[in-house]
Amino acid sequence: MPHATTSNITVRPLPPGPGSTYTIGAELLNANLESLTPSDEATIKRALYDHQVIIFKNQSTLTPAAQYSVTRLFDPAATSYGHGKTLDAKRSVLHPDLKTIPHQPQVQVIGNGFVDEFEGLRDITLKHPHHRTFHRDVLSDEDDRENTRFYRWHIDAALYDLEPPMATSLLAVKVPKTEYQTLRYDDGTGDQVRVPRGSTVFVSGETMYDVLSEEDKKFARDTKVQYAPHPYIWMSGARSRSTGLGMVSEGLELDAAQLPPVEEDKIKILPMCWRNPVTGRLALQIHPSAVQKLVLKDGTVVDDLKEVRDIVYRLQRPGIAPELVFPVDWEEGDFAIFNNRGVLHSVTGSFLPEEVRIFRQCNMAASQPVEGPEESA
Ligand SMILES: [Fe+2]
Repeated sequence: MPHATTSNITVRPLPPGPGSTYTIGAELLNANLESLTPSDEATIKRALYDHQVIIFKNQSTLTPAAQYSVTRLFDPAATSYGHGKTLDAKRSVLHPDLKTIPHQPQVQVIGNGFVDEFEGLRDITLKHPHHRTFHRDVLSDEDDRENTRFYRWHIDAALYDLEPPMATSLLAVKVPKTEYQTLRYDDGTGDQVRVPRGSTVFVSGETMYDVLSEEDKKFARDTKVQYAPHPYIWMSGARSRSTGLGMVSEGLELDAAQLPPVEEDKIKILPMCWRNPVTGRLALQIHPSAVQKLVLKDGTVVDDLKEVRDIVYRLQRPGIAPELVFPVDWEEGDFAIFNNRGVLHSVTGSFLPEEVRIFRQCNMAASQPVEGPEESA
């Protein structure tokens, strides 16, 4: 093969940790992300859709502009941040978590602690999301340093008006290294998993689909999910289950009068199963805390919120079993890209105010809608 068409990038699948069986995650070696050849780009794209989460080490010097460029490889027509301007809403549950880089507004800063200057932002205080602010029942103060929870399993998506981003990238700029924590499910199963403090955890939506019974797979292929309009404001009064996998149903969601105006044609009704654009595999992709209704194959709408959530929880819970959870052990300079349409992810852990942590996150509202199960034979 002529040299010009080969890539120097090597793809090394990451072996699952002890006792784990997840099949996602790969490290990509020898990439110069500031100067990619067409064959490098093809290698990276293939690796993302084969492995769902890809990690490049030692990328501390990557500029926000280069991060934006690499993230756009998966959707060159996308230009604006995945949540658009919706983060401006002070009542959104996402509002405290993200700060926009002024000169590259598709890139957000997330983390923990006080930062006097970073990429044009001055005197910012970052807050690592803590399950205490989102879960109904929380770990006690005494348990909180050694234990943690999944904060919120999710897909990065506005789920109103805008299309779910194809990919999200995360650059670990500053990482306080401390001890591992025990992540507890606290759902009566006794399930728990050891994670590095502040790990981002991923599960494969494809595995989440694969472990379903044939009957449930068919139901998932045939059913659509209607998301609440302005979902992150809508859910702001409600509280999460202890697994971070959706909300407890207590009637605490905001009603229409408390939300910004709703335009019916911007409400998102998406398939339950999303197709991998390269491998063709199906992923069970549901944002569990934003679901409002289910649309069944015969057109019946399930609109009892507790029933909707119970159905979704029963389908998704097997896919977050401890052995299926891939926890990233962040080191400074790690640059990760994940297939946002093929994984669910969550923040974990908690940090003290003096434990300063800085990450850069980038994604764009997609130029194309989600591909459902029916689009291919
Ligand atoms: Fe996220």
